[in-house]
Amino acid sequence: MTTPAELALSSTDLTPRELAHLQRLLGSWSVLADLSFSDLLLVVPASTVPGEEPELIVLGQIRPNNRPTMLEQDLVGQTVLRSSWSLSAAALERGEIVRGAVHHPLIGESVPVENVPVRFGDKVIAVMVRVYSRAVATPHSMYEKNYFAVFGRLLGMITEAEFPFAQEEVGTEETPRVGDGFVLVDGEGRIEFASPNAINAFHRMGVYSTLEGHKLTELGVEASAVVWALATCHPVVEEVERRPDVIVLVQCIPLLEHHVANGAVILMRDVTDVRRLDRLLLSKDAAIREVHHRVKNNLQTISSLLSLQARRLPSEDGRAALHEAERRVRSIAVVHEILSRDPSDQVPFDEIVASLVRMAEDSVVSSHAVEITVEGDLGEVTADTATPLAVAIAEILQNAVEHAFAGADGAPSNASVRVGHVRVALAHSREGLCVTVRDDGKGLEPGFDIERTASLGLSIVRDLIVSQLGGSITMGAAAGGGTLVEIRLPPR
Ligand SMILES: Nc1ncnc2c1ncn2[C@@H]1O[C@H](COP(=O)(O)OP(=O)(O)OP(=O)(O)O)[C@@H](O)[C@H]1O
Ligand SMILES: [Mg+2]
Repeated sequence: MTTPAELALSSTDLTPRELAHLQRLLGSWSVLADLSFSDLLLVVPASTVPGEEPELIVLGQIRPNNRPTMLEQDLVGQTVLRSSWSLSAAALERGEIVRGAVHHPLIGESVPVENVPVRFGDKVIAVMVRVYSRAVATPHSMYEKNYFAVFGRLLGMITEAEFPFAQEEVGTEETPRVGDGFVLVDGEGRIEFASPNAINAFHRMGVYSTLEGHKLTELGVEASAVVWALATCHPVVEEVERRPDVIVLVQCIPLLEHHVANGAVILMRDVTDVRRLDRLLLSKDAAIREVHHRVKNNLQTISSLLSLQARRLPSEDGRAALHEAERRVRSIAVVHEILSRDPSDQVPFDEIVASLVRMAEDSVVSSHAVEITVEGDLGEVTADTATPLAVAIAEILQNAVEHAFAGADGAPSNASVRVGHVRVALAHSREGLCVTVRDDGKGLEPGFDIERTASLGLSIVRDLIVSQLGGSITMGAAAGGGTLVEIRLPPR
């Protein structure tokens, strides 16, 4: 799909500033479609090709929210001959609004159109074409009368290059639309008219008195948007909280004549429910964080219990086994501790690695020194990958500090001679995650095969990496001595 900007760049001679002006118009013209109950098109002259008839190109289209559309087809990107859209061409050339009627092929009769020159600086750069049904041409109610009156004033602003406003923020999903509640005020901010939906919004804010002739602040609505918009001649959006449970989003659009604000339109939307949902989401986040925090605390309690129990065991083997279990529980707690700070489904894995390295360093028996370094980064890892991967890395690091630098008899070798090095390398690419742990220790026993080892530590690692995460693990001799462990996980 081509955006208006791409279209304009490829097929028109608009300058970047002119294009920005038109984009602001496209960002704020829903109010024009709704106030006039009309379909709107934005047409600009296409770049001329020598020897060919000049064309217009449709840069934007919007339908009213409050009436059926007159233009069911998508016209954006279409080019038409200037001679066949002569009313638009005339508005472009003359710089004035040109009204008339055109034959509507689908409806089968002529429909009224209004061609409004869009000025930027002192140049007419585009034409806004309003297409509407004869049925809406004459207002039937007070609110329709007021809509049309304001629409007329905004058209004047477009032809005078005063609408759209410079630096106006492009509307968001939440920006109120005319149908949400429409209030017209005079140059001093006194209410001249409020639409039925606006009256409902005032009622929800607890305002039941007569609105006409009063300023919002006199009615007890503490909205500074109107004062600001009138004073600065710029639109202002504000959220007004009335009583603790009602929140209304107020957008105030000043109406200018010769650069002076002589009135303003206030669009108001009750966003109480939207905000309530926002708050619920926030508290859901807090709850998830709390759960991770408690899981971490519980895991720490379990690891302390194991450690206490280990101390009471007479058997050396039993003690060692309980210490191992304690360490494994702690490596899981590391992940929950990080999730308790940021409960997204993505975990910054470098923080986890840093904690695991600290744990491994702490378990180094003091008679031999081991230096662990980390290079690279896995970036953010999903929470369900992070836990198994963290436990696996903890095992491998533990093996390195426990076995790589031990003497042939299993006792620590003479450490004063040599410092052991362990290098952890992390990489995250399109092929997935890759973790390598390399040590410069004594290397594996001859005939060692990770596929066949029955010892607990590496069985756990194999299970986590291969069965749980669908990855692969290899373990072999590192170049230049020592052991190299490599884990690869497929991309998620
Ligand atoms: N980095 C290493 N350098 C030298 N030998 C290693 C290394 N890593 C593992 N090994 C050898 O592989 C064996 C199996 O490791 P594994 O982690 O499965 O068991 P473990 O460490 O002996 O016991 P635990 O169940 O407590 O982890 C170790 O006993 C050790 O002989
Ligand atoms: Mg081990």
